[in-house]
Amino acid sequence: IGTVVYENSTVASKAVAKEIADLIRVTQAQKKACILGLATGSTPKGLYAELVRLHKEEGLSFKNVISFNLDEYYPMEPNSINSYVRFMKEQLFNHVDILPENYNVPDGTLSKEEIADYCDSYEAKIEALGGFDLQILGIGGNGHIGFNESGSLQNSKTRLVALDHITRVAASSDFSGLENTPRTAITLGVKKIMEAKRVILMAWGEGKSNIIKASTEGEVTSRVPASYLQEHNNATFVLDKEAASKLT
Ligand code: F6R
Repeated sequence: IGTVVYENSTVASKAVAKEIADLIRVTQAQKKACILGLATGSTPKGLYAELVRLHKEEGLSFKNVISFNLDEYYPMEPNSINSYVRFMKEQLFNHVDILPENYNVPDGTLSKEEIADYCDSYEAKIEALGGFDLQILGIGGNGHIGFNESGSLQNSKTRLVALDHITRVAASSDFSGLENTPRTAITLGVKKIMEAKRVILMAWGEGKSNIIKASTEGEVTSRVPASYLQEHNNATFVLDKEAASKLT
């Protein structure tokens, strides 16, 4: 596993955006689609802002990009203030030329009975495209990737999961209180993440330093799903100084 440490999250986000832009341009030259796995949360906001800038100021086109987001709360209406599809539109999709039919965010409006088939088809769609060229990840304070919480297996599939208490507490300010915070979510499984040709996990701030150390230097364990990335052959942790501060 590689770790790259930058002075701050702004510089780090620009470096990740540059890698994505290069990948998009290479696939464009090859007349191929660029298959991206995307994350939400506070961590990738600077990345998306830089991608929007590259589109507006440097002509980067997203016409060949097909994206799949990692997760969505369940239940969740797409227009709700906290929905991840809304987040992605506001942070990225509405500001670039990605085709609406080419972005995918798990559907939080399904009935319970529909979810299993839907999750299978979400994975089948990724597989039919040849898997992810690049998967972007953040990391939870408990080591979750996507909403694969502690205990998620390395071969776990896309599925409905119960959110950990600590994850709900972290989200509770967005939902104005724990009692309003969803208890479940749909998440891409660990298996599809591990099958990505390239994985970049980003983390900023002192608050992430302990879990970054555990994920990169600790044992590979289901207790810390991000530790599975030690077994990926092309995964990089992109960190700011504070998130890297506990690494040996
Ligand atoms: C979001 C996701 C989560 C977040 C993680 C960190 O799509 O999959 O794993 O990446 O909870 O969240 P932030 O970036 O808000 O610290």
